[in-house]
Amino acid sequence: MTSVPSLAATVNQRVADALSAALPEAGAADPLLRRSDRADFQANGMLALAKKLKGNPRELASQVVGQLAAGDVIKEIEVSGPGFLNITVSDEAIVRTLAARAADDRLGVPYADNPGTTVIDYAQPNVAKEMHVGHLRSAVIGAAMVEILEFTGEKVVRRHHIGDWGTQFGMLIQYLIEHPHELDHKSDDASAETSGEEAMSNLNRLYKASRALFDSDEEFKDRARRRVVDLQAGDEETLALWQRFVDESKVYFYSVFNKLDMEIRDADVVGESGYNAMLEETCRLLEESGVAVRSDGALCVFFDDVKGPDGNPTPLIVKKSNGGYGYAATDLSAIRDRVQNLGATTLLYVVDARQSLHFKMVFETARRAGWLGDDVEPVQLAFGTVLGKDGKPFKTREGETVRLVDLLDEAVDRATAVVREKGENIGLTEQEITENGFQVGIGAVKYADLSTSASRDYKFDLDQMVSLNGDTSVYIQYAYARVRSIFRRAGDAAPKAHPELELAPAERALGLHLDQFGEVVAEAAAGYEPHKLAAYLYQLASLYTTFYDQCPVLKAEGGNEQVENRLFLCELTARTLHRGMALLGIRTPERL
Ligand code: ARG
Repeated sequence: MTSVPSLAATVNQRVADALSAALPEAGAADPLLRRSDRADFQANGMLALAKKLKGNPRELASQVVGQLAAGDVIKEIEVSGPGFLNITVSDEAIVRTLAARAADDRLGVPYADNPGTTVIDYAQPNVAKEMHVGHLRSAVIGAAMVEILEFTGEKVVRRHHIGDWGTQFGMLIQYLIEHPHELDHKSDDASAETSGEEAMSNLNRLYKASRALFDSDEEFKDRARRRVVDLQAGDEETLALWQRFVDESKVYFYSVFNKLDMEIRDADVVGESGYNAMLEETCRLLEESGVAVRSDGALCVFFDDVKGPDGNPTPLIVKKSNGGYGYAATDLSAIRDRVQNLGATTLLYVVDARQSLHFKMVFETARRAGWLGDDVEPVQLAFGTVLGKDGKPFKTREGETVRLVDLLDEAVDRATAVVREKGENIGLTEQEITENGFQVGIGAVKYADLSTSASRDYKFDLDQMVSLNGDTSVYIQYAYARVRSIFRRAGDAAPKAHPELELAPAERALGLHLDQFGEVVAEAAAGYEPHKLAAYLYQLASLYTTFYDQCPVLKAEGGNEQVENRLFLCELTARTLHRGMALLGIRTPERL
């Protein structure tokens, strides 16, 4: 495990040193180095600095150049435009740096300087309800963040805050008591998929039937309400039935997560009910400290800047006037648990942007109550709405929410058709077609979600998602499979770095991009922005495609060494693609 500084970091440091030697009064100024089309890198920092010190930027830039002897890393440096520095690094430096990356399991990616503990709240569907595309987003983005953060050395604790409590359980349980076989499974097929589907269809039917009765039959309504009281009082029979709903729902959730190729561990499922024992104390502490006050019988927290449309303040209600605790009391209790018992330094919530006001108020309340000190940062990774092709919220033609399972099945079907078409040429077996179709289809759904910035709404368009051209996961998966196919044909030739060789432009571009993996991962982790990693991987696949078109690998004109060096670039590309996609939760089939 050796972390390898990127060439960008090395060059930036050298220019910074030259800058402070040329201009000691500048202190530690950042040269602001970027990748550039004109040279390998461009540094713009001289402009702002000259402005600040009232000097001439071009002159300052020349002084910096004077301090920088060309050497093993920097091959060429020149002043351009109003005072930029254009910097070209040597081919040798590129290959040496990449060789150091290749020698490391982690591709030379460093751990974060001060890792902490992030408790991440994601993949939180609701008991007895169908999962929808919003739950998909939370699960996909959350799972990617878990991988990315762990890769940077952060300790990550997962929490699936499922909706498993509330007054609707009175109605459901009462109905089940009166219709005892409604949750029984009739199929003998015990596969996860069938049991999951059957569990959901039972729950769905029961939900609808009990709701209809609740709305039409006053006596049932009374019995259902009394059942809520029993549930809250901890009556054993009632609790046991409630548990059945939770267990059935979990059978369904797990079947969907399984379909999503995602591991959800039972121990990490701590739903709303998991905080029941803390609710009373949470409210008492808020009231005693004066953070919450009684208003119309409810316990409320007020904010100067949160007002309703009528201009009156909208409070966060922690306890209703009827004595019931709501969503907020649970979230506040969860914060206490996560900070005090789990040692969180970051609380990350992957939740729909439409809940932003709720979290803003919850975070502020927790700060006032002293449960969130300066050493803990709460963050909502808020995601936008999934839209249909028509740009409207994603619904079926009948206006119902689209069942997640149907959507995933369709993605897999489409992907399988794409895989089959190409796969027949390369002799894929039926089993490989099925497996790859699954990996491509699920990958497509995840990638579409991860490749736009989370806060934006995005269109769910299966045609686009499984397209071989454009910014899709299957494009990246093909690039990976292409590399693997070269290795199957390579015979005795093996990858080996040859820093003495001159590189073609496509090799340099590929190499410099490979070198930036660690920086991109760090950025994606620090800003909770998996889309930056997705964009990096797409670009890597494109650069590889150009390299592949322009630079023959096994038939390289430059002889054995060049074959080895190109294989070396191929191998590092494959490893970087594989690792990067794994961080996004997407598989890379060997043959496509
Ligand atoms: N179950 C909620 C929903 O379906 C999401 C829960 C978000 N997490 C939380 N701690 N409130 O909208």
